[in-house]
Amino acid sequence: MHLKVAASFLLLLALINVHQTEEISRDSRIIGGLDANAGQYKFAAAITVTTETSRFFCGGSLLTNQWIITAGQCVNGATLFTIQIGSNKLTEDDTNRVIVATSEYVIHPEFNPTTLENDVGLIKLRIPVEFTNYVNTIYYADSTPVGNSTSLVAIGWGQTSDDDPELSEHLQGVQVVSISNEECRFTYGSQLTDNMLCVAGSYNEGTCIGDTGSALIQIVSRGAQVHTGIASFVSGNGCQSTDPSGYTRTHPYLDWIKSIILA
Ligand SMILES: *[C@@H]1O[C@H](CO)[C@@H](O)[C@H](O)[C@H]1NC(C)=O
Repeated sequence: MHLKVAASFLLLLALINVHQTEEISRDSRIIGGLDANAGQYKFAAAITVTTETSRFFCGGSLLTNQWIITAGQCVNGATLFTIQIGSNKLTEDDTNRVIVATSEYVIHPEFNPTTLENDVGLIKLRIPVEFTNYVNTIYYADSTPVGNSTSLVAIGWGQTSDDDPELSEHLQGVQVVSISNEECRFTYGSQLTDNMLCVAGSYNEGTCIGDTGSALIQIVSRGAQVHTGIASFVSGNGCQSTDPSGYTRTHPYLDWIKSIILA
């Protein structure tokens, strides 16, 4: 089956397409989501990435007071990250917002920007952030393998439609369900590896451009939020197609993550 995933980067509020290869692309969408409540996703980071040649937007998640997990494509070649935590809003005033800048990151040594294998990266803050009612971490250490039809939540500030290239001002969250990799290969073919995970909504819910790097969350007992995936790719048929959204699974990378952030 011919694999087609559209590659796109978001230049803050202006869209440019960066087709890495003819066949693969990278981006993701929150389509069909709802505004998050204040403090609902305290770990969510809005990241503006600067490289030597571009500037684009990604999501990320606070794993500790000094480390953020995001996609490998969001740190690859980065020279600066400007990171906002503590606010659901991107630009409107919010006294709970913390803004930090850093240039330090670790990319997975086997990240492949063409196939998006091992699409995981870690950003180190210069100074640990202080936890508040709006800033805190997401659980990751007890992340278990995600089964074939598990209820999950996808979040992000990405585009809410294919036609509007602007980010969402307000953080969005949407209920999705994991699908088996076997089923997802009908859309993405053999390029979908075991370390990737696909989710689908009840209709076309999922990720879009600007959501890349954002968390896929499993809500476990007492409402605890566990990081289970990193937004990685969407179908070349568009965010609003009913094709599944692609994530990097968190669980296969736990040892690698711990070896860096707990070192
Ligand atoms: C998920 O589905 C695949 C293919 O249908 C199957 O081989 C696998 O055992 C299933 N995994 C779980 C955890 O049920």
